[in-house]
Amino acid sequence: MSALRWATAFAPASSGNVAIGFDILGFAVDALGDRVTVSRSERPGVTISAVSGIAGELPTDPAQNTAGRALLALYEALAPEFGFEMRIEKGIPLGSGLGGSAASAVGAVVAANALLKSPCEKPELLKFAMQGEAVASGSMHVDNIAPSLYGGLVLTVGIEQPRVKRIPVPSAIRAVIIHPHMFLATRQARAILKREVPLADFVWQTANLAGFISGCYTDDLDMIRASFEDVVIEPQRQALIPGFAAVRAAAIGAGALGCSISGAGPTLFAWALETQAGEVLEAMRAPLLAAGTQVDEWIVDLRGSEGARVVASG
Ligand code: HSE
Repeated sequence: MSALRWATAFAPASSGNVAIGFDILGFAVDALGDRVTVSRSERPGVTISAVSGIAGELPTDPAQNTAGRALLALYEALAPEFGFEMRIEKGIPLGSGLGGSAASAVGAVVAANALLKSPCEKPELLKFAMQGEAVASGSMHVDNIAPSLYGGLVLTVGIEQPRVKRIPVPSAIRAVIIHPHMFLATRQARAILKREVPLADFVWQTANLAGFISGCYTDDLDMIRASFEDVVIEPQRQALIPGFAAVRAAAIGAGALGCSISGAGPTLFAWALETQAGEVLEAMRAPLLAAGTQVDEWIVDLRGSEGARVVASG
C-alpha cells in the first residue's frame, strides 16, 4: 500500500493538432504547466479545496471542473478506501490553446495515482483524464491529454481504447511558441468548424499527416516542411486570431519549417531549426507587438520531454 498522504504532480502545457493532426497529434510544452496536489481525505468522493495561480474563475464543483471530473472518473472506477482532496495551481493561461484544461486533468490523476495501493498504468490514467477534457471543450479529444501525460510529440489512435505512440522529433528541430494575450474559448473555436470536408482537402490533409509523421521518423526535414500545412481547420479558424496571417508569413519568411495554430488558439507555434529558432521567434513577435498585443514566448526542445510527474509528496 502506498504510504503517501499527499502528492503534487506537475503536468506540462501542450500544443494540440500540430497543424495536420486535428484532435490526434500534440506535443508537450514543458516550459509551463499546472501543479495539482491531491491528499487523502476521510470524506468520501472528491473535493476541490483551492484553485490558485493564473486561474481566473474556475468552478470548484468537481463535476464541473476538468481536474475534478477526471479525478471523479478515477475514484468511481477504482473505489479507493479514502476520498481525495485536491488543490490546483494553474500555471497555464485559460483559453490560450496551450492545453490548460488537459494539464489540470492529467495532474490530478497522476497525483492521485501516487496515493493508490495498486497504481494504474498511463493508458488507464489517460482515459480518466479524457473525461475531464470533455467538461472543458465538450468533446473527448486526446491531443492535449496524451502529450501532457507522456511528454514529447504524441499520436493517439482511438477513443475507447486509445493507443498512444510517441513520435521521434529530429534533433535539429525546436518548437517556437508565441502566446498573444487574448482569450479564445475552445468550445467556440470548435463550434465554427464545418461538419464536412471536401474530398480534395481530405486527400491533402491525409498526405500531409502521413508525410509529417514519416518525416519525423526518418529525420527528413524537407518532408516535414512540405507537409506542414493544415488545409482543413486552420483556414476556418484563422479569422478568430487577429494577426495570424502576418505571424505565419513572418515565421515562414524567417525559415520556419511550418507555422500554425496551437490547439484551438490563439497561441501560435512554428517548428524551426535550432540555428534559426531565435530569428523565427523575433519574426513572429514583431507583427503582434506592432499591433499592440502583448505576448509570452518559448523555444522548446521536444526530445527531453518527460510528461507529467510527481514532484513532491509526503
Ligand atoms: N484539438 C483541439 C482543437 C485542441 O483544436 O479543438 C483544443 O485544445
